[in-house]
Amino acid sequence: MRRPRARLAVLVSGRGTNLQAILDATRDPDYPAEVVVVVSDRPGAYALERARQAGVPAYVVPWRKDPKEFGVRLAEVLERHGAQWVCLAGFLRILDPEFVERYRGRILNIHPSLLPAFGGKGMYGERVHQAVLQAGVRESGCTVHFVTAEVDAGPVVAQVRVPVLPDDTVETLARRVAEQEHRLYPEAIRRVVTGEVRFEELAQSRR
Ligand code: GAR
Repeated sequence: MRRPRARLAVLVSGRGTNLQAILDATRDPDYPAEVVVVVSDRPGAYALERARQAGVPAYVVPWRKDPKEFGVRLAEVLERHGAQWVCLAGFLRILDPEFVERYRGRILNIHPSLLPAFGGKGMYGERVHQAVLQAGVRESGCTVHFVTAEVDAGPVVAQVRVPVLPDDTVETLARRVAEQEHRLYPEAIRRVVTGEVRFEELAQSRR
């Protein structure tokens, strides 16, 4: 008998191409997870439309001055939908430590660089690719990691490398990285929800 699928909440702020990649993966009945709810902090996020088209409940929880209050409201929505895992997919806010603790070892994020390089507060989206090009490095990529209270510093689940080419612009590099993100995230989610990769083990091996 097939195991029940893991119940994912996906948090978004923008266009949602990573959300789309996850939704597409879940169409395979053998994929071990399903998206039960999508939450955006921004009303205009196109990702909300993608969720609706896939028949997944989508909500806006507007960002608050007090991140703790946002965390409480977010947790209410996730609980109502029985979400077990939280996947940040282009979600550009920093979650309150209490929320992170509540979902300890069950929050994933995707970041468009080879963390720990080009990560941390203020490093998101195109800014990351800009910084990579400015630094003149020859390689970039993307990382899926567990979220901990320290921004972009939780244990790494999986990474993919891509070359940085001499004539790259932010757009061409972003496109090359995004293509890999869309393959990497569904695969990293699979590894985590099946227990192939475990937060506690990764966290321990870093001590
Ligand atoms: C993705 O490239 C993701 O890695 C990045 O935002 C983009 C969202 O695109 N996230 C961060 O920079 C987090 N620090 P999408 O909305 O099309 O999935």
